[in-house]
Amino acid sequence: MTPFGVYVHVPFCRERCDYCAFATYADRDHLMERYADACVTELRRAAGAGDLAPATSVFFGGGTPSRLHPDTLCRILDAVPRVPGAEVTVECNPEDADEAHLGAYRRAGVTRVSFGLQSTEDHVLAGLGRRRVPHAAEIVSAAVAAAGFATWNLDLIFGAATESDGDWAATLDHVLGLAHPPPHISAYGLTVEPGTPLARDPGRHPDDDAQARRYERAEAVLTAAGYAWEEISNWARPAHECRHNHLYWEQGDYAGIGSAAHSHRNGVRWWNVRTPDRYIDAVEGAGSPEGGREVLTPAQREFEALSLSLRMPRGVPWECLERPEELAGLVALEDGRAVLTVRGRLLANEVGARIRSGILHR
Ligand SMILES: C[S@@+](CC[C@H](N)C(=O)[O-])C[C@H]1O[C@@H](n2cnc3c(N)ncnc32)[C@H](O)[C@@H]1O
Ligand code: SF4
Repeated sequence: MTPFGVYVHVPFCRERCDYCAFATYADRDHLMERYADACVTELRRAAGAGDLAPATSVFFGGGTPSRLHPDTLCRILDAVPRVPGAEVTVECNPEDADEAHLGAYRRAGVTRVSFGLQSTEDHVLAGLGRRRVPHAAEIVSAAVAAAGFATWNLDLIFGAATESDGDWAATLDHVLGLAHPPPHISAYGLTVEPGTPLARDPGRHPDDDAQARRYERAEAVLTAAGYAWEEISNWARPAHECRHNHLYWEQGDYAGIGSAAHSHRNGVRWWNVRTPDRYIDAVEGAGSPEGGREVLTPAQREFEALSLSLRMPRGVPWECLERPEELAGLVALEDGRAVLTVRGRLLANEVGARIRSGILHR
C-alpha cells in the first residue's frame, strides 16, 4: 500500500517557550472550536475533491494539540479517512497527561502520543524559558502506560546555556530509568531560531562543543539501552519507529490541514496561511486557505531525497558525494553507501554540502 499521511496543525499553547518559532499562539484559545470546525471542513472538502487517500499515518502537531478539549481533537480525527491499523500520533504537553485526554484519544483510535519533556532539570528548563511541571517524566510515563499505549515518544532538548554535561546525563538516565521508559526518543540540539526571545539573548545561546559532547553522550547511552538511531535526532527501540516521520524523510505524499500546515504531492508542495484567524476566515468564507506553493524540479527532488537519506542509517550511494575520501571520520563506506559516523552526524550539513545530484537518474 502506498503510504499517505495527514498532518493536522494545532496552533495553541498555554505559554510560548523562549526557544520556539513554531506557528503557535498563547492568546487565541477563544478560536479553538471554530478552528476545529474549519479543520473538519477542510478535510471534507479535500476528501470530496479526491485529494485525500485513506491515511496510513495521521499526526496532530503543534503547537500543543493536547490543549484542545479531547472531544474536539477526536472530532477532527473522526473526519480523517484512515486505513485499518493507521498510525495516529498526538503531540502533547506534560500538563495534559491524564486519563481524560489519553483515554479519549485511545478510544478514538490514537495509537501513539509524543510528549515534550525537554529536560528533567528545573534550571535547564528555566534557561530554555520553558515552564516546569513537577515530576513531569513520572507523570507522563505512568499516564501513558495506564492508558495502554503500546508506543510513544519523548522530546528532549540539549545545549541550553544553563545545562552542564552532568545535567544532560541526568536527564537521559532519568528518562531511561522510568518504570515505563519511552520506546522512542527525539533529542534535539537547541537551535537559535530568529525572532525568538532566545535569539535576542546571546548569553543563553548554546555552545557548539557542548552540544557535540551531549549528542555523543545521547548516542552512547541510547544505543547501550537498546535504541537505534533512525535519523539524526531520533532513536527508537525495534518496531517503535514513527511511520509518519518516515513518510517525510522518504518524500511521501501528505495533506496538511490547518493553519501553517504544509502538503506534498508528487513534487508539488503547498502550505496554508500562517495564523489561525486568517485560516478560519478563509475556510468559513468558502475560499482556499492556501498561502503559497512551489513545484520542485526533478533535480531538486533528487537533491532533497539524498539530503534526507544522508540523515538516516541508510546513507547515500558513495558516488553521490563529492570527494568522499576527504570526509574520513565523518562518513563510513558500508555496502557501497556513505553512512554518517557519529561525528559526521554532528556535521551533517557540511557533509550534505558535498552531495552531487543528477548522478542517479542520468
Ligand atoms: C512543536 S513542539 C510541540 C510539542 C509540545 N508543544 C511541547 O512543547 O511539548 C515539538 C518539539 O520541537 C522541539 N523544538 C522546538 N523548538 C526547538 C528549538 N528551537 N531547538 C530545538 N528543539 C526545538 C521541542 O523538543 C518540542 O518538544
Ligand atoms: S515548544 Fe511546544 S509548548 Fe513551547 S511554544 Fe513551542 S509548541 Fe508551544
